[in-house]
Amino acid sequence: LGSAHAAPSENPRKQMSYPAWGDYTDAWTRDDAAKIELTEDNTLPLLEEMPVDIVTDEVWIWDTWPMTNLDSRTVNYKGYKVIFSLTADRDLDFPQRHWTAEIGYSISRDGKSWDYQGDVFPEDVDTPGLREWAGSTILVGNKVYFYYTASGSEGAGPNDAEYFTQKLVVASATISADSNGISFSDWSEHEIIAEADGEMYQTLEQSKAGPIIYGFRDPWVFKNPQDGQVYMLFEGNSPGEEVACGTTDGVTNPVNPGPYGANPAAANDSSLPVSPQAKYYNGNIGLAVANEDSMTEFELLPPILHANCTNQQLERPHATFSGGLVYLWTISHKFTFSPALQDAGVDGLYGFVGPSIRSDYIPLNGSGLVLANPPENNEQAYSWYMMPGGFVEAFLDNVQGEFAGTLTPTVKMVTKQQTKTTFVHTFDDAFIP
Ligand code: FRU
Repeated sequence: LGSAHAAPSENPRKQMSYPAWGDYTDAWTRDDAAKIELTEDNTLPLLEEMPVDIVTDEVWIWDTWPMTNLDSRTVNYKGYKVIFSLTADRDLDFPQRHWTAEIGYSISRDGKSWDYQGDVFPEDVDTPGLREWAGSTILVGNKVYFYYTASGSEGAGPNDAEYFTQKLVVASATISADSNGISFSDWSEHEIIAEADGEMYQTLEQSKAGPIIYGFRDPWVFKNPQDGQVYMLFEGNSPGEEVACGTTDGVTNPVNPGPYGANPAAANDSSLPVSPQAKYYNGNIGLAVANEDSMTEFELLPPILHANCTNQQLERPHATFSGGLVYLWTISHKFTFSPALQDAGVDGLYGFVGPSIRSDYIPLNGSGLVLANPPENNEQAYSWYMMPGGFVEAFLDNVQGEFAGTLTPTVKMVTKQQTKTTFVHTFDDAFIP
């Protein structure tokens, strides 16, 4: 009789792995997303009151990330942790914040209480956009690399299409610390490192999604422990004007599968109704690889995951690595799910697990949903960011109908049997481990 033990396999679920530079793009399907459900493992408690201990009352704060090393671990630089946040004037109505966003920073000695330091870039700096959107900040030696999104082309006004362009940018500086805190000096120029190419990633001109703007943003730089290479994840959209979503009420969509729309899992296997608009919902998670050891030169690779016909925005993609597996994280909104999925979809943190960065991913918990707001307030928090060890930070958007614009208490998650998650603890503060 043969042994009952299966040969050791890194991949008991038979998920395929592909070279990082290959052209396989996995799909988050409509059938996956249709399974979204609020449960006690993923639903955050309803907040009754605004937290008293906010980071600052000088500015609104939203998307936030810690300064890390290339292994995505928070750096403690000479006794300080540093976080970077998108910020805007508190006189603005909170939903208007996006159009004036600037990256600010805060420091902490205990990783719990934060001192806001103001804008990170010097006032006279020449940035290639009208505003600064999310990114990542990496310390290598004593040099800090600031990756962010330059949004809006210079000279464009709110009625010009170029008001909405997005380009990925890097700037670097030298870090130093003293008893007054952290400072940055010897600034480099701000360089554009990637733009949508129209072949792998949709350009502004190709985007017809109407009120939901296209994405080419949120660069997140990391060293892949599986091959030692530096890569960048970012939010993109599938190229072309639309993707193939099967038939709509017996009417066949004009089909433009594009190089990555052809994955059969993307569309036609679902019993869900397909709205005629679904073809514009084409969010993806993009990948780029650094040239050799460069931190400033990247080459675009095909996306690793798309949500064609499922969701228009896979925002702030990032990853953690454990047990030989890649956990891919992204945030998304209820309103960016394609119309037939909006009842099921929620503002949430979504996750996927696979054997390597370009692989067959399994949506965590069946649907992909990992963390959600309480049903009474779908907009309580947003922009969840998973850190190594299962610690998740986010910003508070809205408490009992009032704009919050500050950080939420950190949540601790655990993974069960590699494909399920549950939250186990809520901290008192915006704790960054
Ligand atoms: C997420 C997000 C990011 C973007 C920023 C703009 O909250 O939409 O994708 O960089 O906000 O404010």
